[in-house]
Amino acid sequence: MPQTHLVWLEAPEIAADARPGQFVMVRCGNNHDPLLRRPLSIHQVTAAGRIALLFSVVGRGTVLLSRRQQGDCLDLVGPLGNGFTIEPDSHRLLLVAGGLGLAPLLFLATKGLDEGCSVVLLMGTRNVSLLYPLSSLSSRITCFTTTEDGSAGVKGVVTGLIAECADQADQVFACGPISMYRSMACDGGLKRGRVQISLEVVMGCGVGACYGCTIKTRKGLQQVCRDGPVFELDEVVW
Ligand code: FES
Repeated sequence: MPQTHLVWLEAPEIAADARPGQFVMVRCGNNHDPLLRRPLSIHQVTAAGRIALLFSVVGRGTVLLSRRQQGDCLDLVGPLGNGFTIEPDSHRLLLVAGGLGLAPLLFLATKGLDEGCSVVLLMGTRNVSLLYPLSSLSSRITCFTTTEDGSAGVKGVVTGLIAECADQADQVFACGPISMYRSMACDGGLKRGRVQISLEVVMGCGVGACYGCTIKTRKGLQQVCRDGPVFELDEVVW
């Protein structure tokens, strides 16, 4: 996956507390430049106290992070935010990843499998080079892929597959671009109150202090970092 990095960190306190959908704020450089930390989803967690972060290089902070070497120390704050909730009566989970939206969903898939749920994963990207390697996924996950140029899987966007899979799912969990959520919000076939989405926004503090991540919801203004990043699809005003 070009310009994409997977970093494993020894972070036993974070690994012990982390829930799928939560994130960490990462100081990307060796000092206070850049000043703001970057929010990154927790991608995977091991019982041995390691966490994985999966990220794309999109700006100066992530360029610096991508240059860190094995053995370096990273300054992290986390786990932060409210993660995904698998309801007690849910046994069949449908996960929808748009692009690198897969980052928090793999942790959720592992938790779902551990709890005895079946997991179907829909992954959509622009082309085959951006697809997460299927060989890195558990064989217990049923996976379907789409690419916009048709270079792998079904040609089109990932939301095109949701309708036929959502009927057989007790809950839907999604992470991807806003356009994907807008399309899902218009899909009358999705069960209301059973679709959780993870919002990716620019953050300043990550802990509810700066109000830089405020969004409109049906409950009023909320902070993505503190009240989310996971929300019910119906809750957000698009
Ligand atoms: Fe500061 Fe959310 S990033 S309030």
